[in-house]
Amino acid sequence: MSSEENKLEHVAIIMDGNGRWAQKRGMPRTFGHRKGAEVVKEICKAAEKAGIKYLTLYAFSTENWKRSAEEVETLMDLLRQYLKSDLQELQEKGVCIRFIGERQMLAPDILESMAKLEEQTAANDKMTLCIALSYGSRQEIIHAARHIAELVKRGDISINDIDEKLFSDMLYTRGIPDPDILIRTSGEQRISNYLLWQMAYTEFFFTDVLWPDFNEKVLLEIIDSYKSRERRYGKIKAQ
Ligand code: FPP
Repeated sequence: MSSEENKLEHVAIIMDGNGRWAQKRGMPRTFGHRKGAEVVKEICKAAEKAGIKYLTLYAFSTENWKRSAEEVETLMDLLRQYLKSDLQELQEKGVCIRFIGERQMLAPDILESMAKLEEQTAANDKMTLCIALSYGSRQEIIHAARHIAELVKRGDISINDIDEKLFSDMLYTRGIPDPDILIRTSGEQRISNYLLWQMAYTEFFFTDVLWPDFNEKVLLEIIDSYKSRERRYGKIKAQ
């Protein structure tokens, strides 16, 4: 056990298992996504209550576009609803909302709601809720590399200026500290193209609980367990 409690600013979550949760009940996968969206709301509140400053949720990956048109449409509709009602509520609570991902794939009305929410909540500082939407980490890294190459080509920076700080600042997560904790629900143990650069020293927690069954109690248990982990960042044990 470490002598000092680990800092906890940022929790990232892969919300997995909606489809299996619904199928176990003989229902279509989209039923699980609906329940999953309710859990998102509950967990945002719980995270804020627990004093977490940044919460990043993987709502839709670049690979999720390959799912059936019906499933993609349901997820987009849930998102529309969420952007209009639930997120409005979070805004009133002083939560700043940010989106990360490839925006060009999203429908114009969704883009408009996203831009409005980001603008309206930019000055909020209670907690930052970052929603990964049409997000893929490799794509994000390529995007950053292209941007940096462009700056070098234009002569705005030199190759020697490229360091970890500059690279981090070119990612969608600019200004957001790296996650301290990653949680993946549903028993899968993969990171699925999520925050690959940002999670270099993140502590991973995998739970068998399916996302629609995830709740504040499970979140607090994970936080408790994280606090007693020893984070070494590649160094040897503190004496
Ligand atoms: C993974 O479960 C979950 C998703 C691909 C989408 C996550 C979306 C939500 C929780 C609801 C909408 C979110 C917001 C922010 C409104 P899965 O479908 O891969 O489940 P399975 O692995 O059991 O098939």
